[in-house]
Amino acid sequence: MSNKIVTYIQTVKVKRKVSFPRPVLGFAEKLYLNRTYSSIAVLFMKVLVAYMSWTGNTKKVAEAIYDAIPQPKEIKPVEEVTSLEGYDLTFLGFPTHNFGPDEPTKAFLGTRVKDRAIALFITHMAPEHIPALEGIIQKFRDAAVGANVVGVFDCQGQACEEVKTFMLNSPNPRLVAAAQADSSQGQPDATRLEHARTFAIETMNKFKP
Ligand SMILES: Cc1cc2nc3c(=O)[nH]c(=O)nc-3n(C[C@H](O)[C@H](O)[C@H](O)COP(=O)(O)O)c2cc1C
Repeated sequence: MSNKIVTYIQTVKVKRKVSFPRPVLGFAEKLYLNRTYSSIAVLFMKVLVAYMSWTGNTKKVAEAIYDAIPQPKEIKPVEEVTSLEGYDLTFLGFPTHNFGPDEPTKAFLGTRVKDRAIALFITHMAPEHIPALEGIIQKFRDAAVGANVVGVFDCQGQACEEVKTFMLNSPNPRLVAAAQADSSQGQPDATRLEHARTFAIETMNKFKP
């Protein structure tokens, strides 16, 4: 038996007093020692980060999430995703359009996520603290038909000029007021991207494959 294999089958005691075969892959051991995953299987999961993004905000959040995940992973636009089969967990990100998911988002969530573990991340121009956001986020959850939604993250994303102009010229005074009070400039900023990284790590830590 080669030394490598002997090393592999040696067991080591780690945090939480779990015994497991000492992985040849040093990175895996390091990860397990440094984090408190729900099981060692999490180390070998395959993760997809997929996003829809018109103006780049949701893509920035997707990249932050992707960077934070140490496991084998892929990142791609939702339009390039044909199936979630083969991924243990998929982080799925969308912008808010018209107070919820737009039609392509509903179509994707309505047909592709059944029986799959997903974590949603959503961007919106509205500030994070407004009560109306709960309803918006619930619409994304409801659209994810049959999915095991293991986490949801949301943050502000800068509204593009076209949207602000549309709102300012709207006959709806609430839209005009919302555009006038817009505070989304420069979002997602470094703090929000850091929150997205934390969300990714915490989601991985608590996930049970
Ligand atoms: C057509 C359209 C409709 C939008 N509707 C809303 C909305 O109802 N509520 C909101 O908070 N933001 C709304 N927004 C703002 C976007 O959700 C926000 O700027 C988001 O971060 C854009 O993400 P993206 O750059 O990844 O496309 C809308 C944007 C567009 C283009």
